[in-house]
Amino acid sequence: MQEILDKVERLKKEIQETALSSGEELEKYRIRFLGTKGLVKELMGEMKHVSKELKKDVGERLNEFKIFAESRYEEFRGRDGDEKAITQEVFDASLPGFPSATGSRHPIQIVMNKMISIFEKIGFTVAEGPEIEDDWHNFNALNLPENHPARDMQDTFYISKDPDWMLRTHTSSVQVRVMQEGKLPIRQIFPGRVYRNETVSARAHCFFHQVEGLYIDEKVSFADLKQTLYYFVKEMFGADVQVRFRPSYFPFTEPSAEMDVSCFICNSKGCNVCKYTGWVEILGCGMVHPNVLSNCGIDAEKYTGFAWGMGVERTTMMQYGITDIRVLSENDTRFLDQFKNVL
Ligand code: DAH
Repeated sequence: MQEILDKVERLKKEIQETALSSGEELEKYRIRFLGTKGLVKELMGEMKHVSKELKKDVGERLNEFKIFAESRYEEFRGRDGDEKAITQEVFDASLPGFPSATGSRHPIQIVMNKMISIFEKIGFTVAEGPEIEDDWHNFNALNLPENHPARDMQDTFYISKDPDWMLRTHTSSVQVRVMQEGKLPIRQIFPGRVYRNETVSARAHCFFHQVEGLYIDEKVSFADLKQTLYYFVKEMFGADVQVRFRPSYFPFTEPSAEMDVSCFICNSKGCNVCKYTGWVEILGCGMVHPNVLSNCGIDAEKYTGFAWGMGVERTTMMQYGITDIRVLSENDTRFLDQFKNVL
């Protein structure tokens, strides 16, 4: 027993006298004293030869020694600068690196980009307009004068200081801005965010995204509108998807239509996405109303055109099997990380 205690004293002294000024020395120290075959372990192993009565005392002394040996090591390791020497020495270039966290594109942006690239292929360019709009661009110029009942179709967030200003309810407002610039012909799309004062639920939100399109030239017909949108649907949803137009009403187009695609979630057999009809509505469209053309300074005798506005959220939800629209704006990284490898 005395033997062990003497040994502890000797080693303590040795530790005090050991120079620890480089990473190499420190590593040697660690192996000699603290390693799996080191002296601390060895001394602990000798405890089994100590008699019962002395176990407690000897145990305490050994523990003290262990703490002393460890603290000396930590003390050196913690010193500024020296740490660097150590990390340099143990640097193993063959180990896999630590990946740095990268972001991902938002699914809305992914779908919007796909829509944009489809129209770009047939000569459409992209333009954007402001999200805070005045009454003229959002309503009046689009053949929606004050007190027109169709304004009720879109519940509006007005700016409380000046009710002539609002958050745009649709991207159709950008049509007005582009037409007023007066450069013809026009073949453009306008992607962006829109706002409506609606109760938020799994199916509806108070802000969402649209991709608007506008084509104005001489002799543009409804047949051009249909062919353009047929092309879009085949590119977006695949060659097998069926399309149908239904007559509809929008104050800024005449005639107006809504376009449905066959539900590719259930193959038109009926599911809750298509509300068991086999069809999903994806856009509103029509021939630009002559009043709109003249409101924007375009000769309605000479020029005709078509326009459409489609929602991005519904398509995104169908594409990725998302059942609650709210996850698209919660910014939960557990949701967003799933789109890491999608471009
Ligand atoms: N602005 C309409 C809406 O938000 C959609 C729309 C319908 C846009 C017909 C158009 C159009 O350009 O021609 O409900």
